[in-house]
Amino acid sequence: MNSEKLKIVGLTKSFSGPQLPVLDEITLSVGAGELVALLGPSGCGKTTLLNIVAGVFPPDRGELYLDGQRVAHCQQSVAYLPQRDLLLPWRTVLDNALLGCEIVAPQESARARAEAQRYLSEFGLEGFERYYPAQLSGGMRTRVALIRTLLTPQRELWLLDEPFAALDALTRAQLHQMLLQLWHSAHKTVLFVTHDLEEALLLSDRICLLTARPARVKTVIENKLSRPRDPVSSEFVALKRSLWDLVRAEL
Ligand SMILES: Nc1ncnc2c1ncn2[C@@H]1O[C@H](COP(=O)(O)OP(=O)(O)OP(=O)(O)O)[C@@H](O)[C@H]1O
Ligand SMILES: [Mg+2]
Repeated sequence: MNSEKLKIVGLTKSFSGPQLPVLDEITLSVGAGELVALLGPSGCGKTTLLNIVAGVFPPDRGELYLDGQRVAHCQQSVAYLPQRDLLLPWRTVLDNALLGCEIVAPQESARARAEAQRYLSEFGLEGFERYYPAQLSGGMRTRVALIRTLLTPQRELWLLDEPFAALDALTRAQLHQMLLQLWHSAHKTVLFVTHDLEEALLLSDRICLLTARPARVKTVIENKLSRPRDPVSSEFVALKRSLWDLVRAEL
């Protein structure tokens, strides 16, 4: 692994009223430039973990390190794609895509606009720039939110919460390729949540499998399949089967 980008140590969180333990001593490192998948049963605490890293709310206990420095959260360094897309209903597709740029680097708006146009057409949204979120399909909204996240400048760590969940298989496969290209060319570090074993195996360097709530790290699987990955190769299928056995034990 390269140097550590993000280190999570002993992160523990309960919600109150009624008391609900959600995260139990989560420890995980993500190397600089690594792509790590977070996999775990529904309701186990994956979104809660990303929310804490992104600074939405604090943990009860535990530590976060960014580039080796202790931090309370990583808000200034992450581009966060929340599970619910949070598009602003009164802004157009283009203006939603530009939101992160506007907040972080308003002086670069001309460049960001050109880049957003390029992404929108690559992501199949050409012609929809002036539409409002309510006029889009679920998959289109997901793509706009993903563009907004990927366009946010000066963010080295991408936190993506089920970025491809609402997409058809073909669009999903296209976006997988785009994510991999962007990740590769921009040297980003990615921590992403998925429910999909195949997606985790197709994209990630490592897979962190969480237990049912309260989430603990059940195991971290090194994914050494050579890229580009072929989901019908015998190595891929064998790894998927062993991952499935581990996941099934948590259901
Ligand atoms: N702000 C909150 N206040 C109270 N309880 C919460 C809050 N956020 C999450 N929870 C609870 O914490 C648990 C974990 O939720 P979380 O959204 O982290 O799960 P998840 O692993 O992302 O699930 P899914 O795969 O369905 O998205 C759930 O039982 C949920 O009800
Ligand atoms: Mg979630």
